[in-house]
Amino acid sequence: MNILVLGSGGREHTFAYKIAQSSLCQKLFVAPGNAGTASIATNVAIAVTDFSAIKELVIKENIEMVVVGPEDPLVRGISDYFAEDNELKNVVVIGPSKEGAQLEGSKEYAKEFLVRHNIPTAAYQSFTADTVEKGKDFLETLNPPYVLKADGLAAGKGVLILQDIDEAKAELENMLTNKKFGAASEKVVIEEFLDGIELSVFVLTDGKNYLTLPTAKDYKRIGEGDTGLNTGGMGAISPVPFADDELMAKIENQIIKPTVDGLAQENIDYKGFIFIGLIKVGNDPKVIEYNVRMGDPETEAVLPRVKNDLVSLFKGVGNQSLNTITLDVDERTATAVVAVSGGYPEAYEKNKVITGLDTIEDSIVFHAGTKLDGDNVVTSGGRVLAVTSFDKDFREALKKSYKNLEKLDFDKVYYRKDLGFDLTS
Ligand code: AMP
Ligand code: GLY
Repeated sequence: MNILVLGSGGREHTFAYKIAQSSLCQKLFVAPGNAGTASIATNVAIAVTDFSAIKELVIKENIEMVVVGPEDPLVRGISDYFAEDNELKNVVVIGPSKEGAQLEGSKEYAKEFLVRHNIPTAAYQSFTADTVEKGKDFLETLNPPYVLKADGLAAGKGVLILQDIDEAKAELENMLTNKKFGAASEKVVIEEFLDGIELSVFVLTDGKNYLTLPTAKDYKRIGEGDTGLNTGGMGAISPVPFADDELMAKIENQIIKPTVDGLAQENIDYKGFIFIGLIKVGNDPKVIEYNVRMGDPETEAVLPRVKNDLVSLFKGVGNQSLNTITLDVDERTATAVVAVSGGYPEAYEKNKVITGLDTIEDSIVFHAGTKLDGDNVVTSGGRVLAVTSFDKDFREALKKSYKNLEKLDFDKVYYRKDLGFDLTS
């Protein structure tokens, strides 16, 4: 069949890389894609939220499956757009309905869902401009640090963690009254701070059945030792060494199953990935967030470990037969180290020529912010490349990623050299 991947990052290059290996895929399109996807698929210059242009492409190219990378088109209802259109309704869309996407699109919606289904999460209350003063009173009842979350999508910047009560009150006011994050902060969730180590689990569900994909841990801060500004992600390690059988059983029984069952009970149409962000507090997992897509750069470490044909997994999602499929996972650890443009996540320059791509040995280079400029591959974003390597543990795998990163170059390239610093085994 002909397949379309929507998006342009490392996650989408990884999807395309796996899909291109499938004998079930005839023609592969990526919109808009990057220089990496251009080498294994046909890039089409269409924005991921331009639904009518996507429809035209799907019909013209006889596309039977659409894999949605980022959350934006999902939150805007791309799955419903396909389901409600006579010419598109038979296309398999990997990504939930607009209602399901609210798990990521609204923090309050997600918290209410978690509470309804008794899934462990941080205690919380939510507030609007009319209830700012009540919000300040609620802050007084909590211990620092204080966690403030803009309700809506805020490009990963909508969460503030503050030590000082006066600063927390001022920021609450800023978010609600001055709309610090625009419409996204018309509502703010204030929640209890959870003290522990983070990990993420990824679930592929057909709405009834699910497969739990390998765990991963990402490194969000720009600086070594987890310091400095938040980024989209500077690297990922899969599996997470501390996610032992006991913790995974708790995650499955207390979190994954009630989530999938809860969606089904509420008749929320959900065919796609659920990315569950967790904090392990003591020995217990608690949910800090849902995302309705795969993570980036987690995908670059998780998917290469999945040996199954990705298209058959997606077909299983489409016809609700994931219960007949067993995951086959590479036992080795995969590490993905991200090379970014100097200055990122603040201002940075683009169009820098990338060299060394043809010298890579023993790693896979997934492109994120790259494009073709004549015969050159040049930078076109903050996160530029993710270098994925396998080995028996994360230290050995990282050595390979770092060795290859030394051979890759562009003006002001930067990457973190301390991934895994917080892991002991
Ligand atoms: P989110 O956008 O909800 O993933 O939040 C961004 C980051 O803030 C998370 O990856 C955590 O590091 C941190 N965070 C969010 N909620 C909490 C919480 N309740 N307690 C501690 N850290 C949190
Ligand atoms: N790496 C975090 C995310 O994809 O949201």
